[in-house]
Amino acid sequence: MFKNSKVAICGVGNVGATTAYTIVNQGLCEQLVLIDINKDKAYAEALDMSHAIHFMSRNMTVWAGDYKDCKDADVVIITASAPMPKDSHDRLEMLKPSLHIIESIVRSVMASGFDGIFVVISNPVDIMTYYTWKVSGLPKNQVIGSGTNLDSARLCYELGSMYSLDSKSVQAYVMGEHGDSEVISWGTATIGGKKVDNVLADNASRTRDMTKESLRKETVEAGWDIFNRKGNTSYGIAASVTAIVKSILFNENAIYPVTVCLNGQYGLSDVFISVPTIIDHSGAREIVEINLQEDELEALKRSAALMQEFYPKLG
Ligand code: 2OP
Repeated sequence: MFKNSKVAICGVGNVGATTAYTIVNQGLCEQLVLIDINKDKAYAEALDMSHAIHFMSRNMTVWAGDYKDCKDADVVIITASAPMPKDSHDRLEMLKPSLHIIESIVRSVMASGFDGIFVVISNPVDIMTYYTWKVSGLPKNQVIGSGTNLDSARLCYELGSMYSLDSKSVQAYVMGEHGDSEVISWGTATIGGKKVDNVLADNASRTRDMTKESLRKETVEAGWDIFNRKGNTSYGIAASVTAIVKSILFNENAIYPVTVCLNGQYGLSDVFISVPTIIDHSGAREIVEINLQEDELEALKRSAALMQEFYPKLG
């Protein structure tokens, strides 16, 4: 029987609208619903994208809807959040002002009878993913956060750029918090199948003065580098989330570092942080426990502990 796939996006600001347009460009689903408290904005974005579909590779329907449209959605993406506090460079500071927004959205979506997969983008994404799971009552595998999927792409971009390579030829995972405590798994990072340690050493002329520390700094600060100049980020986060949604809708079993609930992996349980995870039509199918170096594992545990410190404050 034909599956009429449907995605709903809650929050159609820069990130939500760009994610919607990325989904339209890739023709990922038959129905795309845009939901926002600003109904004019949702209407305008949906109508504008509907005109673009004339030029796309396949037809699909985009419209401005409301929470009842989530009932039969396969995926609900949550991007809404309060504005980043002025002069802040810490996503954790978005927690307090955004919590009631997330709670209201999740309760409204669940009231529709939704039983699909939540993909949370709203920052601080790891804590908001935990909170979405808590409020929704859905099974843990049905609540995923965009996590460090984008951070990993940023690291691959930095490494690829150093050697004039396609970033897809770099495999490097950033894990833990999507934020300052994130951890790079250098021990498993490769370029063209060659360990990054060896690539850095064997190509001194092109590596120049870049070190693992400077590469981590570039990766962690990339989002702020963009935010400081254009007031938000959009294309990177939109593409990283669209890849996750594609693996769900097309049952791809792709592995991405996304925010999921650990259940003993890395010695951690009952904490939502970003780790390499197999994504299929069930959501988070299985966590892939990669071999972290001792210092990386300790850093991951510190990152997880930092996230868990916020849980009792969520009410
Ligand atoms: C970023 O790092 C929006 O947190 C997201 O671009």
